[in-house]
Amino acid sequence: MIQTLEWTDKGVRFLDQTKLPTEESYVTATSYQQVADAICTMVVRGAPAIGVAAGMGIALGVKNSKAETVGDLKKDFDQICSAIGETRPTAVNLFWAIRRMQEKFETLRVRPMPQIKQALIEEAQRMHAEDIAANQAMGRHGATLMPASGGVLTHCNAGALATAGYGTALGVIRAAVEQGKKIHVYADETRPFLQGSRLTAWELMKDGIPTTVISDNMAGAMMSYGKIGAIVVGADRIAANGDVANKIGTYTVAVLAKEHGIPFYVAAPISTVDLATPDGSGIPIENRNVKEVSHIAGKQMVPDGVEIENPAFDVTPAKYVTAIITERGIARAPYEDSLRKLAEEAVVGR
Ligand code: MRU
Repeated sequence: MIQTLEWTDKGVRFLDQTKLPTEESYVTATSYQQVADAICTMVVRGAPAIGVAAGMGIALGVKNSKAETVGDLKKDFDQICSAIGETRPTAVNLFWAIRRMQEKFETLRVRPMPQIKQALIEEAQRMHAEDIAANQAMGRHGATLMPASGGVLTHCNAGALATAGYGTALGVIRAAVEQGKKIHVYADETRPFLQGSRLTAWELMKDGIPTTVISDNMAGAMMSYGKIGAIVVGADRIAANGDVANKIGTYTVAVLAKEHGIPFYVAAPISTVDLATPDGSGIPIENRNVKEVSHIAGKQMVPDGVEIENPAFDVTPAKYVTAIITERGIARAPYEDSLRKLAEEAVVGR
């Protein structure tokens, strides 16, 4: 099984995704600052994985704190949370994880310091385990929507590498394949960071799931040739009305899907649903270093001095989304009602 990230006695161990697909190497962050840096530089990426990394980063910072009173530990904790919160703005799972750790801390304030530290470590580890279970549940729900055979297109990487394991969109594909469906994945390469060709193709190859990589501008043609029976992608944040922020290029795929009458599914855990944001216009979109666009593998591809934009995400309006697959079931339009109902369902056992 792919170990995207894990808690160890030394710190948080990441599979370094900047090195894939040619090198499978691991780095251990031994301070919360190093965890924050791993999120910013995309050593770890993908909304659910960012959330779990944030939880573990906070636990690590608290573990390393030299504070001698609970009051001082709380000051350190607040400072750690705000540093982690500055890393990437779009994936709401980051802020969901910080809030969860804050709520946990509140319940622990009367306890002795070693117990507080241990409980926060356990909370972060719980998030990791819960994310895998959520993905498996999403897979069970979503597999029913996948065709019995044929092409399924995905954009970016919403797989084991983007989560604690198994994946959201790729979890749905994995579950469908486990049920005997004969799926052939079309993976958009996903410029500029190439999560599709570097990461999705890498993890599907490992699982022996047939995959074809296409450049992003080939997706429409593949749809018009009748090669794509369904599309499934992940999400970084889903607004209350069902508008979906996901990797730049997702919007293009969704519009093309509508034109070709192909179902467009989004798979994401409830922690990605942001009921406090009414629609997609309120979702902050991260702009990343323009060098990701101007350079490919270190080689300059754009003349000096040309203006470049590099928004990392776009927003797909809810009207293009056929259904949203969550661990608690499948939401359909009107999403204001269906998402709220799923999101507000009582969480048993926590
Ligand atoms: O910039 P990234 O690689 O973090 O973007 C990842 C995506 O857009 C994924 O599709 C999304 O986070 C869902 S991952 C299960």
